[in-house]
Amino acid sequence: MKPIKVGLLGFGTVGTGVVRIVEGHQEDLQRQTGAPIEVAKVLVRDLEKQRNLRISSDLVTANPWEVIRNPEIDVVVEVMGGIEPTKGYILEALEQGKHVVTANKDLMALHGPEILAKAAEKGCDVFYEASVAGGIPIIRTLIEGFSSDRITKIMGIVNGTTNYILSKMSQEGADYAEVLAEAQKLGYAESDPTSDVEGLDAARKMTILATLGFHSKVALSDVSVKGISNVSKEDILYGKKLGYEVKLLGIAERKDDSISVSVQPTMVKMSHPLATVNGVFNAVYVYGEAVGETMFYGPGAGELPTATSVVADLVRVGKNMGLGVAGRSGLMAYKEKKLKSDEE
Ligand code: NAP
Ligand code: HSE
Repeated sequence: MKPIKVGLLGFGTVGTGVVRIVEGHQEDLQRQTGAPIEVAKVLVRDLEKQRNLRISSDLVTANPWEVIRNPEIDVVVEVMGGIEPTKGYILEALEQGKHVVTANKDLMALHGPEILAKAAEKGCDVFYEASVAGGIPIIRTLIEGFSSDRITKIMGIVNGTTNYILSKMSQEGADYAEVLAEAQKLGYAESDPTSDVEGLDAARKMTILATLGFHSKVALSDVSVKGISNVSKEDILYGKKLGYEVKLLGIAERKDDSISVSVQPTMVKMSHPLATVNGVFNAVYVYGEAVGETMFYGPGAGELPTATSVVADLVRVGKNMGLGVAGRSGLMAYKEKKLKSDEE
């Protein structure tokens, strides 16, 4: 049986997790896709770096074209991060007719429409479940699970690093800088953690969720953003005395035809379920006119939780390839519809 050949762009925290899951769950994956999934090439930046390789060193390259323009490769999995050269690599992979799975919220929040348009033009799949809330399948849930409803609000904790920091500061009186360093060591934080602590990472994720949930193009520049770098231990202790936990909340709402999206540290009543979401965990509330209130909870970052979402996308591509509908399932697309906020 012809394997589904995967080219990995990036072999850091998430890339390593992808290889571990593909290897460890191969039998179950194959039962779903009907063909083995094989990691055929891996792009890294620094060939000299010491790595705990789970693949043959022959597969590792620092030449992106050996992955992107490799005629053997069916699917490019992008887990290197950043906007450039990543965007150029993904567009070229699509140009070459390869399906793409990415965990890159920076890219999807800013250039998602262009990438999805290119994929549609070339008849390729692009899936990006891991870009929001790590191991929680929230993108698929918004697109498929709520397709029948009219979502009015999406609210939650969508950054694991900041929730880890705030929880440790609240529960253990830990020092901000020390816990941030811990989150970096655990592989939760972005390569530049400024985007985590200043709320940008959460803003990118909320842009994606609002775009999908409200079937509208929401611009990152329209999101009002405030991070946690100015939240002190004293603020947290004061909040606790009054019966509140400080959480970095993303809130996207639509009223009539206008949309508002914000990210900011918020005092959450201790009786509210979001106040009990601790550590690297994320939680997303989705309010639908018909369904009412729903909540999704799980690990928001880290090697295996994030890789779970990446490999689930890979399985979806494999199934689509088997069914001959790859690039036509439209699962992750949205129809552009101008709402009031777009026009203003
Ligand atoms: P990481 O540990 O820093 O790994 C990045 C990998 O990409 C490294 O192997 C690096 O090569 C390679 N790389 C970076 N720039 C490159 C370039 N220009 N050319 C070739 N290789 C390059 O990052 P990560 O934590 O795995 O995150 C990867 C992506 O997943 C990011 O978009 C991130 O936002 C997203 N994500 C991460 C998490 C998480 O929990 N970590 C969760 C959800 C989404 P070297 O090894 O040689 O340096
Ligand atoms: N840095 C991100 C976080 C990774 O801490 O949530 C997951 O997207």
